[in-house]
Amino acid sequence: MDAKQYLLKTSEEVDGPIKSYIKNEEPQKLIEASRQYPYAGGKRMRPAIVLAAAGAVGGDRSKAMPLAVAIEYIHNFTLIHDDYMDGDDKRRGMTTIHVGYGMPTAILAGDALFAKAFQVIAELDISGDRLKDVLRYVTTAVWDLARGQEMDTANEGKIVSEDVYIETIRLKTSVLFAAAASGGAIIGGADKKTVEAINEYAMALGLGFQIYDDYLGIAGDSSKTGKSVGNDIRKGKCTILVTHAMEHIKDPQVLAEFKDLLGNQKDTKKDIDRAREILKEAGSIDYALKCARQKIDEAISKLDCLEPSEDKDFMIALAEYAIDRDV
Ligand code: IPE
Ligand code: IPE
Ligand code: MG
Ligand code: MG
Repeated sequence: MDAKQYLLKTSEEVDGPIKSYIKNEEPQKLIEASRQYPYAGGKRMRPAIVLAAAGAVGGDRSKAMPLAVAIEYIHNFTLIHDDYMDGDDKRRGMTTIHVGYGMPTAILAGDALFAKAFQVIAELDISGDRLKDVLRYVTTAVWDLARGQEMDTANEGKIVSEDVYIETIRLKTSVLFAAAASGGAIIGGADKKTVEAINEYAMALGLGFQIYDDYLGIAGDSSKTGKSVGNDIRKGKCTILVTHAMEHIKDPQVLAEFKDLLGNQKDTKKDIDRAREILKEAGSIDYALKCARQKIDEAISKLDCLEPSEDKDFMIALAEYAIDRDV
């Protein structure tokens, strides 16, 4: 199974519905700002997980479409606010919303997409009990995501332990993947045990995905990721690469040099290249990739309880893709 092909197929399925819910209204500036990310499209991993989880438990994928759309809106809302918090000017190859439209419109576009997500969830054609379960997962995810984002920004410029890093990414990233997967499984009619297994799959997938994303943030190609490379170093984000490097850079002079590069907004491209070289020499890049691999193996093992199906195959392939991508 080729995850990329399958993601393209999912994009074709979800792009129409994603565009259809944001109508032409006034003020146009807010509507344009709200549309930019949903229309640009990203990898659409989260909506794909919603639909696949519904199918993999034997349910009807199309019934899960409103949740697929809603989760992508929530994801896009968090990206708009995240780009402002992180001071990033590029996303999906385009100018970020706060840079293009200004901070007030960026905050409102995020809020508007968040509200729209729940309007769409209200369209789900499922029993009241299942709807409540879906809402519990989704609202808890957004709450936890805020906690994770607070930890992420509060820890800028600090060196935290690997445990704190993992807890941060569990909250800021994994929980939304988990809400997507669990929600899809609930809509598909899964029993509690299966929903829990699928939840654990997506939690572990999210960790592997974010560790790999942090690797791409320093070693990726900006023309492919559509985001700036090196900004985590400039901002002093304590990713797993940094937690490892702090304990494994042997030469005190190199350690001092690395600390100078961390959290320095003035770092040039050459400085970022040097930071990457130091991380590589300290074994931190290999270590991060190894950790991401472990999380993905754990994720895939959680799917053993599912009957064979194309959707299950995709969920396995997607986990592999999370740590084997350049986008
Ligand atoms: C970006 O997520 C935000 C993170 C959690 C790292 P994606 O990499 O899934 O972004 P898109 O949707 O493909 O643009
Ligand atoms: C994104 O985290 C997580 C959320 C948007 C909740 P990052 O800040 O690490 O991701 P990018 O690099 O901006 O996509
Ligand atoms: Mg960011
Ligand atoms: Mg961030």
